[in-house]
Amino acid sequence: MMDSSALLPTQQAYDEVAELYADLFAKELDSKPFERAMLAAFAESAGAGPVADLGCGPGRITGHLHSLGLDAFGVDLSPEMIRLARAAHPRLRFELGPMQQLHAADASLAGIVAWYSIIHTPPQLLPEVFAEFGRVLRPGGPLLLGFMAADAPHEVQPYDHRVAPAFRWSTGRIEELLRPHGFDIVARLIREPVDPERCPQVHLQVRKN
Ligand SMILES: C[S@@+](CC[C@H](N)C(=O)[O-])C[C@H]1O[C@@H](n2cnc3c(N)ncnc32)[C@H](O)[C@@H]1O
Repeated sequence: MMDSSALLPTQQAYDEVAELYADLFAKELDSKPFERAMLAAFAESAGAGPVADLGCGPGRITGHLHSLGLDAFGVDLSPEMIRLARAAHPRLRFELGPMQQLHAADASLAGIVAWYSIIHTPPQLLPEVFAEFGRVLRPGGPLLLGFMAADAPHEVQPYDHRVAPAFRWSTGRIEELLRPHGFDIVARLIREPVDPERCPQVHLQVRKN
């Protein structure tokens, strides 16, 4: 099982920047039509039931999923992020905790979004995270991931992230890691960077089989 001390630097770093992050990204989706399209397709794919936004930060994606008609709730490591998410979305549920140890029964979730949160998981620990996603997602349920693309196929590389240690992944490597945990690939969008991004962005939807 993942040693939670591995996540402490990430938690502390996000606690420190939470307010700044929330302000910076509050309206970001408004200028991101491809991301909104992937989230809309995800929302159509998820049936009735709870949908988890894992690594939810200040809850902007949780709120967006709610606006698309989903029964969305958020989970994050950072107490400050959870405090801000609750303040911004008082009618939604936000839980403090690591996404690799969820308080959810087997096959109980209708969908999962992990939007730029797996980027902070050390590569050797990502299979444990995907195993947990596979445990809690019900058969047919969609999982939507957002992350920065690596430079070459089948590659993972460190990313000079402004907040916490992070990694860029090729979609091929992520797909290889997902398949053993019961996921089929549904759709992948690779978008060229727009200022201030420094590399292409990947949005990958898979489905629990
Ligand atoms: C780049 S932010 C993205 C936040 C949010 N998804 C958004 O798009 O606004 C990454 C978030 O993931 C959280 N995070 C990173 N690793 C996590 C883990 N193992 N479990 C729960 N949250 C995690 C961080 O605390 C941070 O709030």
